[in-house]
Amino acid sequence: MRELKAEQIQKNYDTLINTIQLYITGDRKDKVLKMYNDMEDRFMMAPASAKEHYHNAMLGGYVDHINRVVDLSLKVKELWEQNGSKVDFTEEELVFSAIHHDLGKVGDLENDYYVPQDNEWRRKNMGEIFTHNPKCEYMSVTDRAFFLLQHYNIKISKKEFIGIRLTDGMYEEANKSYLIAYKSEFQLRSTIQYILHQADMMAAQIEGRLTKESIEKDETEVQERIQSLKEVVGSPDKAKDEKPKITNDLFEELFGEKRW
Ligand SMILES: [Fe+2]
Repeated sequence: MRELKAEQIQKNYDTLINTIQLYITGDRKDKVLKMYNDMEDRFMMAPASAKEHYHNAMLGGYVDHINRVVDLSLKVKELWEQNGSKVDFTEEELVFSAIHHDLGKVGDLENDYYVPQDNEWRRKNMGEIFTHNPKCEYMSVTDRAFFLLQHYNIKISKKEFIGIRLTDGMYEEANKSYLIAYKSEFQLRSTIQYILHQADMMAAQIEGRLTKESIEKDETEVQERIQSLKEVVGSPDKAKDEKPKITNDLFEELFGEKRW
């Protein structure tokens, strides 16, 4: 299973706070920092999704994902510029939107959005590492992001609103009316939402693949250990007094308990 070490979780959170310090300006910077300070532990530990085969369904996965989206957003913006597209938003607007596009995944003012799945069958068979917290009243992730921002009196520009609102692109049914314009005057004016969507999708795909590689590596290691176990058990040449110790250690390593 893909996991982040405690030091990495702390390092990722420090990176996020540094990004806020660097890019967010004016009197809203203090308000943004207060929100993070009030919910520091929850920000730090939140996963980015519930299911193993989605992306970053691990403790600290949320901040790891946000940092990647910030980094990729700036790079995707450069790519658009290099290909002749004029940028009509500030770096602060882009970074602010990238940082907060999934804010609702942290939960509401009191409750985490994701809690560990305690149903062993669902964990094992459906890959549900986390599940939605029943204490958290339903809101879409994006609506909850706006709710939290307004709670902390954090003002956002129109471009930031559109950017956060549409980061999920056409994966969110409710975005259709923004992204398919039947009248030219209804067409989106800025490119910010496309850049955020491309960065978010790229980050999620990369994270999903990192998880898949990690699972495959674990499975290979288990198979190699099982093979070692079979070889030791099946070998008539091994000294009898060696077998129980070796096989018992391997059994414990593979299945987490002593066999005898
Ligand atoms: Fe995201």
